[in-house]
Amino acid sequence: MTTATVPVGMTTTKAPFIEQAQKNGEIYIRQPYELYSDDNQDTWRRLYARIKPRWEKYANRKFLEGVNNLALDPNNVPKLEDINKFLQPLSGFKAKAVSGYVPAYVFFDCLRTRAFPTTVTIRDGSKLDYLPEPDIFHDVAGHVPMHTDRHFADVLVRFGEVAREAADHVKNIADEHERLLHLESIIKAMARFFWFTIEFGLMRDKPGSKELKVYGSGLLSSYGEIEHCVTSPGVQRFPFQLEWVINQYFEIDHYQPLLFIVDSFEHLFGEVERLEAWMKEGKLDNVSPGEPEIQEADLKSFLEADTGR
Ligand SMILES: [Fe+2]
Repeated sequence: MTTATVPVGMTTTKAPFIEQAQKNGEIYIRQPYELYSDDNQDTWRRLYARIKPRWEKYANRKFLEGVNNLALDPNNVPKLEDINKFLQPLSGFKAKAVSGYVPAYVFFDCLRTRAFPTTVTIRDGSKLDYLPEPDIFHDVAGHVPMHTDRHFADVLVRFGEVAREAADHVKNIADEHERLLHLESIIKAMARFFWFTIEFGLMRDKPGSKELKVYGSGLLSSYGEIEHCVTSPGVQRFPFQLEWVINQYFEIDHYQPLLFIVDSFEHLFGEVERLEAWMKEGKLDNVSPGEPEIQEADLKSFLEADTGR
């Protein structure tokens, strides 16, 4: 397809370029930078300008360093290739444009190889606050600055390795029904772990400190929730507890009422290792039911995983 035939606009759920890629079954795409409209650029500018002061107040220092190190442009939707020029030398990570939903195993396996599946559409400028889908502001302004930190990057890679181990683990279960039940439970446990850390995690400013900073990307990309999560008396904040986290359902359509605190990225790395050990011991085989629902495509992606062994 030539760009001349594609209407301008990269608004989430209203981008013809993306619809076409999805129709063609393409997960990985190029970032069609010429298609961002003036409105799209303006949306980025407004999102960035209003959240910047809140980052300075609530974000953990590694994130703030990351924003500087990536030279994120306040005025223009970032070009992934520019971001990657700064990012790759720091941690080996790169942002990789995708057309939308990525099946669970494929997503985690990308992390293992230090690629981050990145949404390239941007939310509708008339609704800056809430959107159920990820967009480039969530992915690039919320996630990618964290990937500049070596320790945080290692956590993501380790998490990708857990997915690979999990795919191997379930392949050894002979009974098909049992295999599917265990797999669904393991993916649920992994999704909950990811949610309460990478997406919505809080961290102590310094070891032993009572002051909390935000490192979860769902919080870092939300103008309202980044403040609410730290200051609201209505939010429960507990030290990270693995057994609780993997059995705790979550809902995506409102501010999170319950969050978990880690001491450091080294602490978080240790918890990912524990998650892996628990998976191997069968402790993730029967976690509590409830959200998130695991899609057929997610199960399939694990069952068909090529773990190269
Ligand atoms: Fe995210």
